[in-house]
Amino acid sequence: MTASTVRHFLRDDDITAAEQREILELALAFRQDRHLHRPFAGPQAVAVIFDKPSTRTRVSFSTGIAELGGYPLVIDSATSQLGRGEPVADTARVLESMVSAIVWRTFGQELIEEMAAHSGKPVVNALTDSFHPCQILADLAAVADARGGVDALAGLTLTYVGDGANNMAHSYLLGGALAGMHVRVGAPAAYQPDPRIVLDATRIAAEQGGSVTVTTDHADAVAGADIIATDTWVSMGDEEQYQERAGVFGAFQVDARTLELAAPGAQVLHCLPAYRGKEITAEVIDGPQSIVWLEAEYRLHAQKALLTWLATR
Ligand code: CP
Ligand code: NVA
Repeated sequence: MTASTVRHFLRDDDITAAEQREILELALAFRQDRHLHRPFAGPQAVAVIFDKPSTRTRVSFSTGIAELGGYPLVIDSATSQLGRGEPVADTARVLESMVSAIVWRTFGQELIEEMAAHSGKPVVNALTDSFHPCQILADLAAVADARGGVDALAGLTLTYVGDGANNMAHSYLLGGALAGMHVRVGAPAAYQPDPRIVLDATRIAAEQGGSVTVTTDHADAVAGADIIATDTWVSMGDEEQYQERAGVFGAFQVDARTLELAAPGAQVLHCLPAYRGKEITAEVIDGPQSIVWLEAEYRLHAQKALLTWLATR
């Protein structure tokens, strides 16, 4: 396979709405039967590279690749030549000759795009500064499972509040729009989503019967929402901004009042790790409307579905 024909998953809209649906259906099926497909039997190796810390992504890809019959080759980039400055393109050329897919958690989106441009094997974004598309597949699959199936997604209002400029906000915009949802982002003025991504999401939402709303008003964002999502106010790589961010996001906390404004029975998502008392209260994340543990479990099923789908193109 050549680098020009292989499919990659670098951002949520690298797949069509129909393809997203196919992957989500497969994710729900994998939850019922962990050994449904074994596309990496052999075993074939899959490289899983981390430039940033991880618990869920590391464990879910490792476990998932093993359950798909493959061998997960987990690499901390600090202990690899990539971490010493070996060009991404050279790394891609070497890896593609040995592994069946490359999964990478890194910083700039341009880095993973460069990896993909030089890899004849699928490259999967395991989080960049701009997107976390595997997480959104898991989130959508968890919501679908909790609501009786993938058909339940279209038409739901999904509100994300907090840091509107981070990877989760951008992926909710694109991934939620692709699922035909009404996606709302509530964030302080200085932390609004990238306007180019808002534009892309708005176009996709219009095609899929959904909509996109971006606001600086927490109450407007959450009013009547079916799903409330949030994320840390200080993402990996933003740690030096901790003090300046600390005072900005308080009005966007997901608390009991937020749930009163949302639709009755609204469900709560958080990709984790969570900071109780910051972006979400303990009462909410540990309460009956939270589906965060199902969401975390779906990292495994959704990524197995994605890898199976990519491996069988
Ligand atoms: N949600 C998520 O990606 O978690 P990790 O950083 O632990 O992988
Ligand atoms: N926005 C967070 C997500 C962590 C899974 C970060 O990038 O640190």
